[in-house]
Amino acid sequence: MDELKWSENVSEKIKRKLELVAERNRNKIPYTTKDGCFDDMSESNICWWTNGFWGGMMWQLYNGTKNEMFRQIAEENEKKLDKNLMELQGLDHDNGFKWLPTAVANYQLTGNKESRNRGLLAANNLAGRFNPAGAFIRAWNDKGDGSVAGWAIIDCMMNLPLLYWASKEINDPRFLQIAAMHADTAVKYFVREDGSVNHIVEFNPATGEFVKTYGGQGYGEGSCWTRGEAWAVYGFVLSYIHTKKKEYLDTAKKVADYFIAHIPESGFIPVDFCQPEDCGLEDSTAAAIAACGLLEIEKLVSEEEKKVYHKAAIGLLQALERERCNWEDDIDNILEKCTAAFHDKEHEFSIIYGDYFFIEAIWKLTGEELFIW
Ligand code: GLY
Repeated sequence: MDELKWSENVSEKIKRKLELVAERNRNKIPYTTKDGCFDDMSESNICWWTNGFWGGMMWQLYNGTKNEMFRQIAEENEKKLDKNLMELQGLDHDNGFKWLPTAVANYQLTGNKESRNRGLLAANNLAGRFNPAGAFIRAWNDKGDGSVAGWAIIDCMMNLPLLYWASKEINDPRFLQIAAMHADTAVKYFVREDGSVNHIVEFNPATGEFVKTYGGQGYGEGSCWTRGEAWAVYGFVLSYIHTKKKEYLDTAKKVADYFIAHIPESGFIPVDFCQPEDCGLEDSTAAAIAACGLLEIEKLVSEEEKKVYHKAAIGLLQALERERCNWEDDIDNILEKCTAAFHDKEHEFSIIYGDYFFIEAIWKLTGEELFIW
């Protein structure tokens, strides 16, 4: 089967399965599955950072099928998040992950002014997290002791597009300036010489001076958490797309080259590229996110380089589709073997953003993607 046919075939399987899954889960905001059934974060934790991805999947599906059910579910997800928007301690650097796939996607497709307002509120809060002394966006909120006031994390590269969007939307360069200053700091302090990245970097929040790095959700300090590497691949190319600053594309390529060089023969991505050889833990989300970033880099580089990034992306997606996708009608998730963090008690389960980025990647290939970043 040629590649386009293969991706169209996968796209059809996604649509067929999601029609059933969405219908029976229409009032939820899922994070993971238990015995194949989605849980519901709208009940248990409305401020959870992944609560925009279900709505995002629904907008992608609506865009690809024009089925009104998907649109209604997406709108519901977005409205439920208003409770989060009113809770300052529930807002953090992940505002982009929550409101780009929901409110901004809605505004992009329908012109809904309330959605635009939600997106702008989230962007203003995100901009307000900027630390001018260290030129970084603070990641998480205070734990009562000020200990994380100077922490920034690589994941934030994916939240910057909310600021790029706001800048354009209200003709105000401040949002773009903040995003670009954070991206510059990330180039300097997160990306290592060999193209691997740190998950967490701590700065002195008063002076902005570099303090130290942490292994975060990866194996340990100095290791390479694969989802962090994937956020960097996709995040830096997105910053290039919005700013045209060549250094961001060069950085995206450098990080992508490290990722590609470390893909195991099996094509399945470990939780950390530096985890012990006999560990075997996987994270399918890293594969799907990296594939999205590689397919964007492909559009921006020379003919020779295109082949490299394209081949790697297809390899990751075909490995996922072959052995890490669940196409059974009565199981809610698609991707399997997703892992939130190396040192968590549980590993290799389903995670909603794995499904989101898998769909996005496949639809980059079929041309059905709603570009929300
Ligand atoms: N942004 C948190 C994570 O990737 O797990």
